[in-house]
Amino acid sequence: MLPPSLRWNGEQLVLLDQRLLPHEIAFLSLRHWRDVAEAISTMAVRGAPAIGVAAAWGVVLAARAGDDLEEAIAVLRASRPTAVNLGWALDRMRGCEAAHPPVDPFALQDLAEEIEAEDRRLTQRLVDHGVALLPSDCRLLHHCHTGAIATAGVGTALGVITAAHQRGLLRHAWLDETRPRLQGAALSAWELGCQGVPCTVIVDGASGLLMRRGEVDAVLVGCDRVAANGDVANKVGTYNLALVARAHGIPFYVCAPGSSIDLTTVDGDAITIEERDPQEITTLRGQPLTASGVKAWNPAFDITPAHLITALVTEFGVIRPPYRDLLCDLPLGRQP
Ligand code: MRU
Repeated sequence: MLPPSLRWNGEQLVLLDQRLLPHEIAFLSLRHWRDVAEAISTMAVRGAPAIGVAAAWGVVLAARAGDDLEEAIAVLRASRPTAVNLGWALDRMRGCEAAHPPVDPFALQDLAEEIEAEDRRLTQRLVDHGVALLPSDCRLLHHCHTGAIATAGVGTALGVITAAHQRGLLRHAWLDETRPRLQGAALSAWELGCQGVPCTVIVDGASGLLMRRGEVDAVLVGCDRVAANGDVANKVGTYNLALVARAHGIPFYVCAPGSSIDLTTVDGDAITIEERDPQEITTLRGQPLTASGVKAWNPAFDITPAHLITALVTEFGVIRPPYRDLLCDLPLGRQP
């Protein structure tokens, strides 16, 4: 049984500290919204949907403390720039604040609860749509982490893989280790292991050989933002995978909850790509990997152009290209 990624205990936001996994299951009890912003920027909580829900609870903490909500929302919004779920949840919290002057912490708490419950409902729907795409006896390749702990619910792409196993459709899951933060090795492999799903971790660069050998029937990934034209921002390395999948005629599916779809961003070039500390590359657990002075460039995400994506899997159903009009027609903000 997996621990919850986050929960509200009536006074504090209790967060699973993902930085300690898979070796330790420990929780942070956060009393202040600044602690929530720090937990997001330091990746104690990660995964686009999970950081959106955590940020909503951060606003509740600010309201309960009588702090300046505009400042709290601005700091929380800046805690990570790429995943749009953060801004999506904060915009909803701000709308609620504006609708209930002076600030009503109980209305904000009700909305944070709703955002969390919605994520549980929609991830289950998304997973059901995703599993329906898969052939029997399939071998799936996955990048980064998109499981239950990356959301408030059952996860997205990794949730599809788990459900495929539970429904007897999965032969094997291949997991990119996902340099430099190793979300695939540390988080996804742990989640699948806890649920008895057969999986093997590979270094990111091995995915080409694997596909060339015919060992992959479909690639499944999550996303941090889908632009209006269907371009997708996701963990760095996703673009490379999509190119290799296309070269081998392998379907490339992106699991994209409505909270990750951003119709105000015209295309992938307009998405801000977070650049993190080069030390994430040049060191491992505090030990240097490179000679001192070696430079490193550490973009946390990349852009996969829409033309390489076979389909977007959402809670509303499976969307195939051309994406622009279909994305515009989605009932975003009116969850099923
Ligand atoms: O930097 P991270 O670990 O927050 O990056 C996570 C990803 O890129 C996930 O693929 C994405 O957020 C989808 S989570 C359902």
